[in-house]
Parts: sequence; structure tokens; C-alpha cells
Amino acid sequence: MKFELMQLPYETNALEPYISVETISYHYGKHHLAYVNKLNALTEGTEYSNKSLEYIVKNADGAIFNNAAQVCNHDFYWHGLSGTATDPSVELSDLIKSCFGSIEAFKEEFISTAAGHFGSGWVWLSINEDKKLIVEATSNADNPIRHNRIPILTCDVWEHAYYIDYRNMRPEYLEKWWKLINWQFVSDNFANVEK
Ligand SMILES: [Fe+2]
Repeated sequence: MKFELMQLPYETNALEPYISVETISYHYGKHHLAYVNKLNALTEGTEYSNKSLEYIVKNADGAIFNNAAQVCNHDFYWHGLSGTATDPSVELSDLIKSCFGSIEAFKEEFISTAAGHFGSGWVWLSINEDKKLIVEATSNADNPIRHNRIPILTCDVWEHAYYIDYRNMRPEYLEKWWKLINWQFVSDNFANVEK
């Protein structure tokens, strides 16, 4: 068993009241774990059994890709959250303002893209090949690294991410999710791309 379920970088009640312990017990403890288990079963004895998650996400197709990307996306999602308030770095904040006009305009674009995405998927803040920040939505398990972009933040818009706490109210989940963004993590991702 090569791939393992990541350890959450906080206690399961750290994101309350916006994301409940019950949601984490299902989303992390059942859905995320199931992707890890399926990935291990699918890659056993294949060329991917000793490859990195990133390599598999970039190169695999079908069920192996789907499960690897879902592991990767969820790892990224959980690290991107925090119960402690943080701010974006000055460098990131400046680029957000230059690409979107203001932090508030960026938030509006991100949340409207996430609210309007049809079906299951993910919404990302990514750096494109021109080194500009873009908001993009991907369907199902897809990840920007498949498209030569580097993600620095993601939001899970699969129903399993919010249905326990918010039922069908995806916009309400998004507003609360916004309060939990770990800007330190996002800023570190941005700084690593700039290096
Ligand atoms: Fe999820």
C-alpha cells in the first residue's frame, strides 16, 4: 500500500462552525479515504505503483487518473483550510489586485464561478503560462496541472463537501469556506512558483 491518507493539519473540530466534525468524518474519513484505497488497488502491479501522485495525475487516464487526482485534490483542499485567520502575502495580494482589480472582485469571481459550476468539480486559483492568476473550474477530478497551469488554492464543489452542513445551498457553503482559507498556505504555494 503505497499511497496513504494524509494526516489533517488540524483537529477535526478546527473548522467549526463552518465545516462540521460530521462533514469531516464523511468527507475526509470516508470519501477521501476511499479514493486512496481505490488508487492503491488500481495501481498495484502497474507502471504507476511506484510513481508520485503528481506524475500519475499528469500522465494517467481513466479510473487511475480519477482516483489519483481526487487524492491530490483533496490533499490540496484540506491544506488550504485553517480555523485560524490568515492574510495573503503582500506579493500575492498585489498580483490578485493587478489581475482582478481588487481582493473583493477576485472573491466575487471565485464564488460566482464555484456557485455556477454545473455538477461535480473543483474551482481553482491558478497561475497560467503568462504568470497571471486565473480562476478556473474543472469537472469531476480534473486538475489544472493537466493543462499546464499551477494551482495555488482550490475549493471542492462536489456535493459531498457541503451537503451535510448546507444541504443544497452551495453559495452559503462557499461564503463560509471563504472564511476558512489558509492564506499562509496559498501564499507559500505562490512563493514556491515564483522561485
Ligand atoms: Fe471532496
